[in-house]
Amino acid sequence: MKITKCVFPVAGLGTRFLPVTKELAKEMLPLVNRPIISYGVEEAVASGCNEIIMITGRAKRSIEDYFDRSFELEEMLKSRGKVALYEKMLKIANMAEILFVRQRQPLGLGHAVLCAEPMCKNEFFAVALPDDVFINPEDPVIAQLIRVHEKMGGSVIALEEVEPQNVSRYGIVKSQFEVEPGIHKIVDMVEKPLLEEAPSNLAIMGRYVLSPKIFELLHNQQAGTGGEIQLTDSLKTLCSQEPVWGVVFKGRRFDCGTQKGWLSANVQLALEDPELRAVILDVVNKELNQ
Ligand code: UTP
Repeated sequence: MKITKCVFPVAGLGTRFLPVTKELAKEMLPLVNRPIISYGVEEAVASGCNEIIMITGRAKRSIEDYFDRSFELEEMLKSRGKVALYEKMLKIANMAEILFVRQRQPLGLGHAVLCAEPMCKNEFFAVALPDDVFINPEDPVIAQLIRVHEKMGGSVIALEEVEPQNVSRYGIVKSQFEVEPGIHKIVDMVEKPLLEEAPSNLAIMGRYVLSPKIFELLHNQQAGTGGEIQLTDSLKTLCSQEPVWGVVFKGRRFDCGTQKGWLSANVQLALEDPELRAVILDVVNKELNQ
């Protein structure tokens, strides 16, 4: 069965961005010229997922509004002859079929994924954490995972080889063997291990293809790190019951979940746009020559 659904858990509190995120969804912060969330949705759609399920919470209404029609704005742009902008607004609203489900309490990422059960209970589905922005226009990362699922069956997790000093920031997997270059059979995983205790340097990144079996495991999942229901804890059980593959993805990743990461991603991507590059270099040169 083809994977057509992608779940976006966006109900987290975004405490690392406070006070900005007191009333503003961090997913709506701009990454150069569009909100962070837009990159993930574009990637999912380009990967063949035309049904998007957003798990939202309070202070996240702006995400719904962003992907909705905005008749007043559209009429205004049309009447003023701003055709290109009008078409751009329509394109955003027509990007995908998006369902919004409310996670009433932020009980953890695992609990957020569980909120998608009514829509995904009988099929494999993709999950994208929008904080991780992946850039690979030729081969979107979700599509890379879906291809492995279609070939091997089972669930699939995106992996990145991280520097030893960063191992303790991520969920780290234990690989039983590499079935082909960059594709690992995962047999265990541990959340944010000490370097000495880490089973590898392969870190879990925010893209998954999951078996519907995960819902059964999440129902029985006790709260873990931080008192939250953790997806990693249920994935750990899943890989002892069903095949779970790890794919070292091809492409660039930007961590927009922290203020420093978000700022760095904005600068790096803006430097790739000739007009914005000139602005940044001008500011930096003035600063250096002071
Ligand atoms: P994070 O652990 O990064 O949490 O969640 P967060 O709330 O977004 O940010 P910080 O750490 O407080 O700054 C990982 C993903 O899981 C979602 C988040 O929205 C994010 O996409 N999430 C987390 C939920 O949807 N619900 C939750 O209860 C927790």
